[in-house]
Amino acid sequence: MNKNVRKAVIAGNWKMNMTPSETKKLLSELIPMVEGKTGCDVVVCVPFVDIDTAVAMTKGTNVKVGAQNVHFEKNGAFTGEISADMLKECGAEYVVIGHSERRQYFGETDVTVNLRLKAALAAGLTPILCVGELLDERDRDVTAEVVAMQTKIALLDVSAEDAKKVIVAYEPVWAIGTGRTATAEQADEVCGIIRSVLAAKYGADVAEAVTIQYGGSMKPGNAAELLSKYHVDGGLIGGASLKASDFTAIVDAAQ
Ligand code: 13P
Repeated sequence: MNKNVRKAVIAGNWKMNMTPSETKKLLSELIPMVEGKTGCDVVVCVPFVDIDTAVAMTKGTNVKVGAQNVHFEKNGAFTGEISADMLKECGAEYVVIGHSERRQYFGETDVTVNLRLKAALAAGLTPILCVGELLDERDRDVTAEVVAMQTKIALLDVSAEDAKKVIVAYEPVWAIGTGRTATAEQADEVCGIIRSVLAAKYGADVAEAVTIQYGGSMKPGNAAELLSKYHVDGGLIGGASLKASDFTAIVDAAQ
């Protein structure tokens, strides 16, 4: 099957950056720069408090809005948490799930990632499921096993129909915010491993339909090469998504 059947998705993960007024400024630069660039979906995953501003500003444009996490319960006594229904009603369409920073600093596990993913799907949000190995794991040659395990547990009890709606982001932890990028060959190899895990579970049709992004120091200078690879269908971009011109250059590389 041709890679062109898959929708490329370029998503910015702003992490804990941008107040609502800074969101206004960045989006007022970005929106006209990416206008009409329909060769990929363009998403910004913003802090919770910026969702309202981002949704209002992107209305009627080709930029879509996502959140960076979601709780798995529908509601209740979970102080400080945000539910999938809340995100949906605020106009978010995507949500990052299982980012390595959540796993590393906030104790998220494969099991809670699975619960969050199912909650997001049930609310009609598109999950961006992050998987990726630590440097130690790569050095010990268990990258394939680690990403396979993360992917399989995240998708426990998820139907084939729902699996098609999931975006997977391969983010090697050693390449996040370090300026050290996986080579295009490494990215393609691991995205291919993830696709084969999907094929074993759901069949080739589902596996070929799922968008698999690469994330980890993707920048204007390396985006085209990474995106040219068969299994790399887009990018999840941290640092370079905070500058309209850099993010636009990556969107251009995906056209
Ligand atoms: P950087 O692009 O800053 O390395 O961050 C990648 C990332 O974690 C996106 O989710």
